[in-house]
Amino acid sequence: MLIFTTVREIRLWLDRHAGGRVVGFVPTMGALHEGHLSLIEASKRECGLTVCSIFVNPAQFNDPRDLALYPRTYEADLALLADSSTDLLFFPSVEEIYPHDFVSVEADLGGLDQVMEGLHRPGHFDGVVRVVHRLLDIIRPHKLFMGQKDFQQFTIIGRMIEQLKMPVRLVVCPIAREPGGLAMSSRNRRLSKPVRDQANLIFQILQYGKSKRPVLSPGQTMDACLEKLRQAGFDPEYFEIVDPETLQKIKQWPESGRLCVACTAVWLEGVRLIDNEFY
Ligand code: PAJ
Repeated sequence: MLIFTTVREIRLWLDRHAGGRVVGFVPTMGALHEGHLSLIEASKRECGLTVCSIFVNPAQFNDPRDLALYPRTYEADLALLADSSTDLLFFPSVEEIYPHDFVSVEADLGGLDQVMEGLHRPGHFDGVVRVVHRLLDIIRPHKLFMGQKDFQQFTIIGRMIEQLKMPVRLVVCPIAREPGGLAMSSRNRRLSKPVRDQANLIFQILQYGKSKRPVLSPGQTMDACLEKLRQAGFDPEYFEIVDPETLQKIKQWPESGRLCVACTAVWLEGVRLIDNEFY
């Protein structure tokens, strides 16, 4: 695996050596786990060259404490990436991504950033859009691999790509889960062992909500799940059942054949966890 830390070097290498190969790109913030690796595997299957980036993007952290506590495990990440046969790793500094003359992109997100994560983490998606646009501009991949775990994030990036007519195809990969159901996340490392089992309940409550579809309205289902989350010891920020394209809350279940998605964010032991499930 080749490692690059500057825009100039990785661009030069890609211009010289990518040839006619399809380039797949997996942006990450490191602290890699099997969820990230599943994106890399998808890229390896579909592309001739796989580029991964590790960059803890300060612009997307609305909470300085979260940024300070974000796990950084570079050595372990390198070993995992080497094992996964990633071709290139881009590991830039903050100055490399945001030089002093950096101009942020403007994209009309059509209100997708005004709900759920956007409401609770002001400025978060501006930061995500800024960094993903910048990384796409540097790597210029044919395919961008993102996880369904961050449902609103991939929806917004899809919208940005469409709005700005960027020549890249977004590929969304399913959520990788722990055996107990907890969605894999770099933040899970901050949970103590005893609460790991408790954290599995998020997935069970998402399943419970799904099972209630024949008897409860979407509003009643959301209330019932919020209550269950509280009873299970979580401090929920939201539990919403939304249209997967507009991310607006649904009032009635869609006709059969159309999907909706339940999205939730909860706090546990001072750690913020998100998950979602198609209903
Ligand atoms: P990060 O949280 O490191 O996640 C990088 C990618 O891995 C994202 O596309 C995310 O959805 C995906 N991912 C995380 N956990 C997953 C899981 N359990 N199953 C499947 N995919 C999973 O998301 C970010 O970083 C950043 O916001 C980023 C896009 C890199 C921009 O800074």
